[in-house]
Amino acid sequence: MPGNINHILFCENPLAHNRVEPDFEPEYTASKQNGFEPLLFNYDEFLRKNYETAIKKVSKNKSKEKIIYRGWMLTPVQYSTIYEILLNKNYELLNTGKEYQNCHYLPDSLKYINGYTPVTIYEKTGNISALIERASIFSDRPVIIKDYVKSEKHNWDTACFVKNASNKNDLKEKINNFMELRGEYLNEGIVLREYVELNNVTTHSKSGMPLSEEYRLFFMYNRLLGMYDYWEEGAYTVQKPETASFEEIAKNIESNYFTMDIAKTKEGKFIIIELGDGQVAGLPKNTDVNEYYRRMNEIIRS
Ligand SMILES: Nc1ncnc2c1ncn2[C@@H]1O[C@H](COP(=O)(O)OP(=O)(O)O)[C@@H](O)[C@H]1O
Ligand SMILES: [Mg+2]
Repeated sequence: MPGNINHILFCENPLAHNRVEPDFEPEYTASKQNGFEPLLFNYDEFLRKNYETAIKKVSKNKSKEKIIYRGWMLTPVQYSTIYEILLNKNYELLNTGKEYQNCHYLPDSLKYINGYTPVTIYEKTGNISALIERASIFSDRPVIIKDYVKSEKHNWDTACFVKNASNKNDLKEKINNFMELRGEYLNEGIVLREYVELNNVTTHSKSGMPLSEEYRLFFMYNRLLGMYDYWEEGAYTVQKPETASFEEIAKNIESNYFTMDIAKTKEGKFIIIELGDGQVAGLPKNTDVNEYYRRMNEIIRS
């Protein structure tokens, strides 16, 4: 159950020390207004492996206390590193490395969402030809490509959507495009997922990607923290979905803070698109951040 969490760790603005990353400014302020004390850590120094410097603004806590990170994405290895660094300062991140990976890597989250999410197969980057062989389970149906964490959804036609999975040349070419685009940021391996027609609200003004009726649900300690429209564009004039069945699924997910992205299919049923660790998931643009941190505080203190 929730411990006493008083601190939120944000990334420092690399151009103006002692200030938060501009993207997180509203959250930094809202967290303060809702009973938390924000702390700063330097993400760039962390990436350079200058761990002492990265964490120097965090002074050692008198006794061990849980802490929440809100910042840029971390690989599971980086997450475990920051977990240890913080522990040395008597702060324990609310998710362990294992709990982080459970929702950060799609292959790890499948065990919680199988049956509620599109059929998914995956292989490490060394086994791409095996993956292409296995793609025969999709027959001549469309699939989408991603790595263990991210897609190239803004390159929908060239590196995300494959119209016919039995067209191996096309599949191979798009996987190659995908790998090239992700470059050194590619996470672990390639994931192929059955494409499910979603209830479109519009198409993205820049990339042409179809924008569907999608919502991001945040859970803390397996309780619903909030549900937000996923896209900024598009008319979300529709009635909000029933969350009861998703709250039920969330009870079994081994993570203390995560997101669940859901989407409405053409047939009108809601499915799960993916899970994410709550600490590195973006708040959709229209989120009332003040209400978000008020509710977070409420869950933690109850
Ligand atoms: N299996 C699928 N069928 C149809 N559309 C999908 C499917 N998976 C993802 N999408 C669409 O593509 C978008 C990006 O996919 P997602 O898996 O969330 O990638 P990312 O991790 O880059 O956000 C989703 O928001 C959804 O609109
Ligand atoms: Mg997504």
